[in-house]
Amino acid sequence: MAPRSRRSRPSTPQGTAQITVDHLTVNYRDTQALRNINLTVRPGRLVGIFGPNGAGKSTLMKAMLGLLPVVTGRVVYGDDLLSHQLDRVAYVPQRSQIDWTFPATVWDVVMMGRVKQTGWLNRFSVTSRQIAKDALDRVGMLEYKDRPIGALSGGQQQRVFLARALAQEAEIFCFDEPFVGVDQKTEAVIFQIFHELAKAGKTVLVVNHDLGESITNFDQIILLNKELIATGPREWVLTRDNMTRAYGGHIGFFGHVA
Ligand SMILES: Nc1ncnc2c1ncn2[C@@H]1O[C@H](COP(=O)(O)OP(=O)(O)O)[C@@H](O)[C@H]1O
Ligand SMILES: [Mg+2]
Repeated sequence: MAPRSRRSRPSTPQGTAQITVDHLTVNYRDTQALRNINLTVRPGRLVGIFGPNGAGKSTLMKAMLGLLPVVTGRVVYGDDLLSHQLDRVAYVPQRSQIDWTFPATVWDVVMMGRVKQTGWLNRFSVTSRQIAKDALDRVGMLEYKDRPIGALSGGQQQRVFLARALAQEAEIFCFDEPFVGVDQKTEAVIFQIFHELAKAGKTVLVVNHDLGESITNFDQIILLNKELIATGPREWVLTRDNMTRAYGGHIGFFGHVA
């Protein structure tokens, strides 16, 4: 996943490029995880990816970033494959995929977001340090900067990973279930920052499986269950029929199905 240099290709003006997922099919050894997914995401949107456990939400996010082999299809951002432009992406995987015993402080984790601009062997610049500091401050975690990441609560850890994503100064932000195991204050802080990013023309993709009323935060919903059931504004997507197709009988939980 070596980032490519931004200088090696024409830049797409920020805030104008859309993501296109084109005929995407992904299999694991003997399971079909995603079947023929087609959708677009415009910049400046806060996008929620929903579906039951095993629906292929994490698979979709990873396949979009080129982290999994695909059977067919491609994902384009602007005029090139998204997987060729990972220097424009910040990705925070599902909690269960992060090794929380990793011996790093909060500051180390956030500075990892600056490695690409700095290079592994170079010293972090004053600018990089300032950006990391601002990012930690923005998520309300600056005073924890010297703590080991493993010693924080789930909500605090998620905020630190959000700070790392901010420090990357990406155009596309991908978060896999960032609200699992977090407190209400953290959820509010995270949504506030997601809204600010979208307003600034960034694309924010967020995997969730159940958010209750918080679903109203999203500008676009992608509803999945191995295949794309629907995508668009909430009013279009959250119909009883679509929810039944996605979740079977368990459709009561959003509370405002049309
Ligand atoms: N590494 C893997 N190897 C084999 N099967 C997998 C792997 N990862 C996920 N799966 C299967 O693919 C399907 C989709 O998984 P996933 O994308 O993790 O779903 P979600 O994130 O919506 O819960 C599930 O049936 C899951 O068991
Ligand atoms: Mg998942």
